[in-house]
Amino acid sequence: MSATKVDNEITGRLALITGASGGIGAACARDLALHGVRLALTYSTNQSAVQTLQEELQSRFAGLETSTHQCDIAQEGDLKRLFEEVKAKHGHHPDILFANAGYGKRIPHILDLTLAEWDYTLTCNLRSAFILTQLALPHMLAQTWGRIIYNSSIAAGGTSINGCHYSASKAGIQGLSKNLAAKMGRSGVTFNDIAPAMITGTGMIPSEEDLMGTPGDPRGIPVGRSGRPEECANVVTMVCRTGYMTGQSLLISGGLK
Ligand SMILES: NC(=O)c1ccc[n+]([C@@H]2O[C@H](COP(=O)([O-])OP(=O)(O)OC[C@H]3O[C@@H](n4cnc5c(N)ncnc54)[C@H](OP(=O)(O)O)[C@@H]3O)[C@@H](O)[C@H]2O)c1
Repeated sequence: MSATKVDNEITGRLALITGASGGIGAACARDLALHGVRLALTYSTNQSAVQTLQEELQSRFAGLETSTHQCDIAQEGDLKRLFEEVKAKHGHHPDILFANAGYGKRIPHILDLTLAEWDYTLTCNLRSAFILTQLALPHMLAQTWGRIIYNSSIAAGGTSINGCHYSASKAGIQGLSKNLAAKMGRSGVTFNDIAPAMITGTGMIPSEEDLMGTPGDPRGIPVGRSGRPEECANVVTMVCRTGYMTGQSLLISGGLK
C-alpha cells in the first residue's frame, strides 16, 4: 500500500461531534466552525443546549451547514439512526468523528459499584466508541481521508476523582484507538484520543468548587488551576489538521500525571 498523502485541509469537511450539548463538545464545535468545518451535533437529553449552540453558530458563521440529532450512545439503534440522519442531511457520512459524549457517575470506591453501573459505563463510553468507529470508517476509507478523535481521560492511567469503572472504560478507548492507528496507518484515517483532566465549565465538573478536597483539587494541579473546554478544543482542531499524528493519547491536565 502506498504512503498517505499530505492533506490537512479541514475547511468544508463534515465533523460529527457527539455530546455537543456538553462543555467540551460545544467548545470543539465552536473551534471547528472557525475553520469552516460543517457540523453534525448530538445531544442526549439537553436539546436546548444544542439548539442554543446551533443558533450561536448560525449567527456567527453565516451559511455554515449545521445539524442537530438526538442520540443515546448506549443504544446501537440510535447510533445507526444517527448516521442515517447525517447522510440524509449532509449527503455523506462524517469526515471527522469526535466521539466525545461520555458518562461517569462519580463512585470512587469499587465496593460501592454495582455490576449494572459497571456495564452501563462501559456501554456508554467504550462500546459506543467501537460502534461509532465501525459506522464512520467505510466513508473515510473510501475517500482515504478521515480523522477519528476519542475523548478518553487522564482517568485511563489511574489518576481520577472517579472509580475504576470510569477508568477502565477510558483505558479501553485508548487501546481501541492505538490498535486501529497501528493497523490502519496507510488508510488515510488517523486515530487519536484526548485525555483531559479536571476541565471545569462542563456538566461533569461545573466549577473548581466541585474539585476541592478531591485528587483533582486545583491546588494540587501543577499549573494551579483547572482546565477549560476551549483548551481541549484547541487540541482537537490541531489533531484534525495534523495527519502525521496518529495513535497518540494527548494529556490535557495542567501537568497532573
Ligand atoms: N470534564 C472533565 O474534566 C473531563 C475529563 C476527562 C474526560 N472528560 C470526558 O469529556 C467528555 C465530555 O464531557 P464534558 O466534560 O463536556 O461534560 P458534560 O458537559 O457533562 O458533557 C457530557 C456530554 O455527554 C452526553 N451524554 C452523556 N450520556 C450520554 C448518553 N447516554 N448518550 C448520548 N450522550 C450522552 C451529554 O448529553 P446531554 O447533556 O444532552 O444528555 C453531554 O453532551 C466525556 O466523555 C467525559 O468523560 C471530561
